[in-house]
Amino acid sequence: MRPVYYEDGALKLIDQTLLPTEEVIRSYTDYRKIGEAIVTMVVRGAPAIGVTAGYAVYFAALEFKKEPIATFRQKMKEACDYLRGTRPTAVNLFWAIDRMSTVIEKAEPQDPETITAQLKEEADAICAEDIAMCRAMGKNGAALIHHGDTILTHCNAGALATADYGTALGVIRAAMEAEKNISVYADETRPLLQGARLTAYELHKDGIPVTLITDNMAGWMMKQGKINCVVVGADRITRNGDVANKIGTYSVSILAKEHHIPFYVAAPTSTIDFDMLSGDDIVIEERPSDEIKWIKGQQIAPDGIRFENPAFDVTPHQNVTAIITEKGVVYPPYFRSIPKLRQDQ
Ligand code: MRU
Repeated sequence: MRPVYYEDGALKLIDQTLLPTEEVIRSYTDYRKIGEAIVTMVVRGAPAIGVTAGYAVYFAALEFKKEPIATFRQKMKEACDYLRGTRPTAVNLFWAIDRMSTVIEKAEPQDPETITAQLKEEADAICAEDIAMCRAMGKNGAALIHHGDTILTHCNAGALATADYGTALGVIRAAMEAEKNISVYADETRPLLQGARLTAYELHKDGIPVTLITDNMAGWMMKQGKINCVVVGADRITRNGDVANKIGTYSVSILAKEHHIPFYVAAPTSTIDFDMLSGDDIVIEERPSDEIKWIKGQQIAPDGIRFENPAFDVTPHQNVTAIITEKGVVYPPYFRSIPKLRQDQ
């Protein structure tokens, strides 16, 4: 399942706001509209946002490639700044835009047509690499999963959150392909229900046994011995191993610790912010209160009260048993093991 891909001169996105009841593919050629698609979560999930941003930069270049080089560079800077402002937490967005910006800086000769062609190649490379990283991560992570395990996951870190295959769900897919006879509990993941709408949808579609629970049920399932390990994705991992992921992940990590259940994070190295020392510095996106106040057009809370809607939280590194990447599995102390992953990045 490919939620983001380039075809026939356009960027195609599966509209994830409509899943699981409607499967609609939208076409984009305007980088501003692609930025809106990131903000409104037509596309979401850290790696998928990075891939999308790569193509958005390419479409900006297509728009400005007839300009003189100085104007082209200025317009491209403005387009990149606009895209950087769409969502603050997932580092993959910034990582992909930085890669595209480096192409603009280093291209030879410095003419807009040449740069635009090279940007297309870079966007395609980011997309292809993401799929390869998910496959490698899946293999590395599957080694941690035992035959017959039941795995809890939170939010959607699946094919829908990447260019294909998924991070946490990539590990689950790889374990399934290795005939480990696993099953999955999916947290529904309020407020936007990525677990119910997306994770349950894509696992069911692939024939992977999935049981949906509401977010407040995970602890009780653990207490009854129904969960063998937790595997989640990440939006940003800092140098010390702190992990920003969907709001609620932190609570799950504490529950896992209390019940002596391994808590694994699966993420490509493009999700590691090697320059950020700890999770204290991660900017947590605050989303509109209507996401809590309303469900599918139905108001569920009174007018006149206050809401808080942080989209992510930070799980401290002490709660993370291991981090699964495409380069291998790393263990604490993360301030030693994570920097080693940077080599040849
Ligand atoms: O707000 P979202 O849906 O973009 O949040 C997504 C998550 O938190 C995922 O768990 C994370 O991006 C990892 S995706 C491989």
